[in-house]
Amino acid sequence: DQYAVIMAGGAGLRLWPLSREQRPKQFISADGTGSMLQRTIERISELIPPDKCFVITNHNYADLTQEVLGNLIPRQNIILEPLRKNTGGCISYAALLLERRFRKGSVCFIPADSYVGNKQEYLKAIRLAFKECSSSTLTVIGVNPTYPAIGYGYINIDSDPSAGPRQISRVRQFKEKPDTETARAYVASGQYLWNSGIVAGSLQAFKSGIQQHMQEHFHILSEALDHLDSPSFHSLIEQAYSRLPDLSFDNGVLEHSSSLMAVKGDFDWDDIGSLEAFGRLTGCDSSGNAVRGSHIGMDTRDSVIISSDILIASIGVSDMMIIQTKDVILVCPKERAQDIKAFVEYLKHAG
Ligand code: GDD
Ligand code: MG
Repeated sequence: DQYAVIMAGGAGLRLWPLSREQRPKQFISADGTGSMLQRTIERISELIPPDKCFVITNHNYADLTQEVLGNLIPRQNIILEPLRKNTGGCISYAALLLERRFRKGSVCFIPADSYVGNKQEYLKAIRLAFKECSSSTLTVIGVNPTYPAIGYGYINIDSDPSAGPRQISRVRQFKEKPDTETARAYVASGQYLWNSGIVAGSLQAFKSGIQQHMQEHFHILSEALDHLDSPSFHSLIEQAYSRLPDLSFDNGVLEHSSSLMAVKGDFDWDDIGSLEAFGRLTGCDSSGNAVRGSHIGMDTRDSVIISSDILIASIGVSDMMIIQTKDVILVCPKERAQDIKAFVEYLKHAG
């Protein structure tokens, strides 16, 4: 059997103030048509029936998830985490849980926060990744990089990415979020793909990858899962989570795995990891401005301007982001976009 698990428990800080602690980006709409989480489920449900689709998220988002999902998947397929422990915690918990429940089968983990341009190619890539699922390998889905992004993982594949239709290759190296210089070299070499964040494998492959490379996660979670059907499970998993290191699956497993495979996806893809990416989805006007909502400008260039309900006016502005929501106005040069995350963390502590 094949399962899909959508990861929807992140905080989406980089999209602040569009994305808020109470409603992070997976619960908002990227293109005005419905939340990213909903879109993600709808996309994958052409391949995986709803009763085999799971969503894993933070317990704080239980109501929001339910509200967004409606009847798309059965209620019991929503897995709640007591704490946010990054994708290392999320993937380990869900993979080990499914392995206990179903023993055999393959699973594909999918982030809930990406934009996908071409559904058929996307599904084709996932189908191929499922096909690769043997007992010991994990398969990631990569896409051609378009610029030296530092917010993504990079996959060095065994074949020339631009050569012909060969879609599956061994991974020589997986590097999560390199610095700018390294990212530049990777993109220039033509040997790397961006990691789309989708990873597939048999339940056994996930189990052994976690056991081998994230031993602490494996032991802590396995101990709790031994009591899966006991009434005390709820508090056991809570205690287990409080002991888990905060680690991404990319850093914890993928970077260390020696038998990783990659499928090259041929679809337009964006993580929408920044306000700029969010703005770009609607396209730019002839002055290079990505505008949503109402804006009037004079000598305004290459800016991202998003207004929820008022008119934004700008004169002599370039390479800026001006974002208005119902209770916040953010003004930030585009080149400082990466600082938003740290800024929001600072705001939280400042109360
Ligand atoms: N349930 C749960 N719990 N979900 C989580 C958690 C958590 O603690 N943390 C993050 N997620 C979800 C996010 O909501 C998102 O859908 C997905 O997992 C990926 O997490 P991000 O925090 O958005 O990761 P990233 O974008 O920095 O990096 C990852 O994705 C990139 C592509 O978008 C990595 O896999 C990169 O290698 C990859 O390029
Ligand atoms: Mg992301």
